[in-house]
Amino acid sequence: MAGQAGETRPVRLGLACTGWIAEWAVHQPIRDGSPATVAFVASRDPARARAYAAERAIPASGAWPDLLDRPDVDAVYVATPNAGHLRLALEAVRAGKHVLCEKPLGHDPGAVAELCAEARRRRVLVREAYHYRAHPALAGVLAALRGGAVGEVRRVEVHYGWPLERADDVRLSAELDGGALMDVGCYGLDLVRRLTPALPEVTGVRARTGPTGVDLTAEVRLRSGPVRARVWASLRSPAFVCDARVTGTEGSLGLSSPFLPVLPGPEATRLFRARWGPGTRAPAPREGPFTSYRYQLDAFARDVAAGEYGAGEGIADQARLLGQVRERMRGAR
Ligand SMILES: NC(=O)c1ccc[n+]([C@@H]2O[C@H](COP(=O)([O-])OP(=O)(O)OC[C@H]3O[C@@H](n4cnc5c(N)ncnc54)[C@H](OP(=O)(O)O)[C@@H]3O)[C@@H](O)[C@H]2O)c1
Repeated sequence: MAGQAGETRPVRLGLACTGWIAEWAVHQPIRDGSPATVAFVASRDPARARAYAAERAIPASGAWPDLLDRPDVDAVYVATPNAGHLRLALEAVRAGKHVLCEKPLGHDPGAVAELCAEARRRRVLVREAYHYRAHPALAGVLAALRGGAVGEVRRVEVHYGWPLERADDVRLSAELDGGALMDVGCYGLDLVRRLTPALPEVTGVRARTGPTGVDLTAEVRLRSGPVRARVWASLRSPAFVCDARVTGTEGSLGLSSPFLPVLPGPEATRLFRARWGPGTRAPAPREGPFTSYRYQLDAFARDVAAGEYGAGEGIADQARLLGQVRERMRGAR
């Protein structure tokens, strides 16, 4: 059952799958001290769930419906391929569980709004796992930009791409909602939304579609009031690239690895860097000793315990934007 306001015990998680990202987003943060435990792991294959549980000392395992019935699970971490997110999140909410769902939660704004409404009715928290924003370094930069550090924001430019080599990767499956936009472009759209006065309008989309029917590279142009933005995403980038540039009326900011403020200490400095241009009111740099995933899980556990469920934190807006871009991509094919 969902936690009650004021409760401070660690959040008891059920994992909705046995994939790769759970190691970063759940297990490592818990080893580092996040107030959470893993009470159950579900898999499509019971034997895989058992083996996964045994390796990580998780007390119980089984199938997805078993997870929903567990009274010792407060919250579900959903990290299946993209196409499963919305359905599992909705089933979890209906079972009275809080949800931490991997990005992107969905691209159907009506269905996502219904999920948020259901979460409000059931008094549970639904959070989309854009972990980068949970890191104090990034949160500080975003707050400074919103506070006028470069004057009024006029232009945002984002690149996020990497060379996906595995031919059987779920990111190449159209059925599972793969593609560059859904894998990495969604981060750029999320960042742009944080820096624009209102939900941006999509003014142009170009995509290169691969043989499996997903966009291997996508370029999205957006406008919101006086702000123009461009988001470039790729699964066929010759090398890893992750950067952003924000230009305002009084200055500019270059961000290296804005979506990966991951590793602590000197490693974080190597990965994430904010270069404030002349004319900016650069804030004092803020570093955190932990990964962004650790901050994300800490915040989720804290908000569950405190009964801070919010109103969906723009989750439906993000789905609306993704839905619009996907629609334009289909039209352009
Ligand atoms: N936040 C981040 O930094 C980050 C990084 C990477 C990925 N992600 C997101 O996390 C999600 C999972 O990514 P991942 O890299 O962890 O993927 P993955 O290693 O391929 O794991 C996905 C898991 O989903 C389950 N699953 C359910 N239906 C499936 C299907 N039809 N085909 C394949 N697997 C299925 C599988 O578990 P069972 O076989 O046990 O059912 C599988 O282990 C994606 O939405 C991705 O966008 C986020």
